[in-house]
Amino acid sequence: MSSAAQVLERCDALAAISEETGRLVRRFATPALREAVDTVGGWVRDAGLAVREDGVGNLIGRRGEGPALVLGSHLDTVIDAGRYDGPLGVLGAIAVAERLGERELPFALEVVAFADEEGVRYSTAFLGSSAMAGSFDTTQLGSTDAQGIAMAEAIRAYGGDPDAIVSAARAPGDLLAYCELHIEQGPVLERAGVPVGIVTTITGQNQVDLVFRGEAGHAGTMPMQRRHDALAAAAEWIVGAEALARGREDLVATVGRIRVEPGARNVIPGSAALSLDLRHTDDATRRAAVDDLRSQAERIAAARDIALEWTLVGETEALPLDPDLAGRLEEAVRATGTPVARLASGAGHDGVAMSALAPVAMLFVRCEGGISHNPAEAVAEADVAVALDVLERFVVSLA
Ligand code: HGY
Ligand code: MN
Ligand code: MN
Repeated sequence: MSSAAQVLERCDALAAISEETGRLVRRFATPALREAVDTVGGWVRDAGLAVREDGVGNLIGRRGEGPALVLGSHLDTVIDAGRYDGPLGVLGAIAVAERLGERELPFALEVVAFADEEGVRYSTAFLGSSAMAGSFDTTQLGSTDAQGIAMAEAIRAYGGDPDAIVSAARAPGDLLAYCELHIEQGPVLERAGVPVGIVTTITGQNQVDLVFRGEAGHAGTMPMQRRHDALAAAAEWIVGAEALARGREDLVATVGRIRVEPGARNVIPGSAALSLDLRHTDDATRRAAVDDLRSQAERIAAARDIALEWTLVGETEALPLDPDLAGRLEEAVRATGTPVARLASGAGHDGVAMSALAPVAMLFVRCEGGISHNPAEAVAEADVAVALDVLERFVVSLA
């Protein structure tokens, strides 16, 4: 079986490991993630690497001495996920380690599976890579998930050690570089007709929580002019946010979650709590858009005599990726006879956190229809084969 075929077969095997039947959900520190990491740990061991886990639950396979070239991605998923976002990068890294076999390298080789990139369970981002990079915010350990389980408790139940997270952080001298293979999750490579692409920049993002707090009331007796309808205010703002993003090149704004209270058919909504995910590869553009959207929310709330709560829950700056590593990826792509494509990433990735430790590179694989965060996520075996060839050449170019 070819390496690419084995990678896809293993992606299928991991896709069957889920918290739910019928759809793929594998959140941080859950039994499903435990099973997936144990399965992947066996494959890493079979590839000839020594396997360990750090306090937050990252899986780390290693061979050789000295500063490490780290290849990896994440094994946690979003809700109703596709099977390649994360696992393709972890399993691709294992495949390259297998293809290199016992080849002498003047650096250590590590394969890493991060325990939480999507941040679904605790509304965080990069829990795994931030722990490894030394930027883990320990105040998060007290935060609770939808079932009221504190993060520290979840980590212990998973087999991790919250008290060892800070001490397990890697020192910048530990790493030579970090390189991640990942599906593009967008339409650019498919439109260009190329199987792989070299990532130039990882987008910056703001994560904001908003609450419009109006007044619940009787749907039948309260005249329209007297209402303080929280959901109507939120709806007006959402349409305005979409219009603003449509009007600014490459800006994306998404309201992915809304919770309406009390949520009864015959009650005027008293409150509407929503999430805003705003991204752009230029930080000044992104920040200006956040300010404008906040002003729009304040204007709408004032006009409707409704209260507004605006909480910035996360912000990451855009990350230009390392030009020397990108150049090595480009040479590797050329050596395979594949046209070179460079593109920005609209998705966030663990490389953002890992950039504190080492230079970062990313290689994207074309995905059908650009679809991701969706069970319809799909890649072609031939494209994965090109990606593995490129990644192996990239590793050898550093030797
Ligand atoms: O949201 C993202 O960009 C990534 O999939 N976590
Ligand atoms: Mn991902
Ligand atoms: Mn994702």
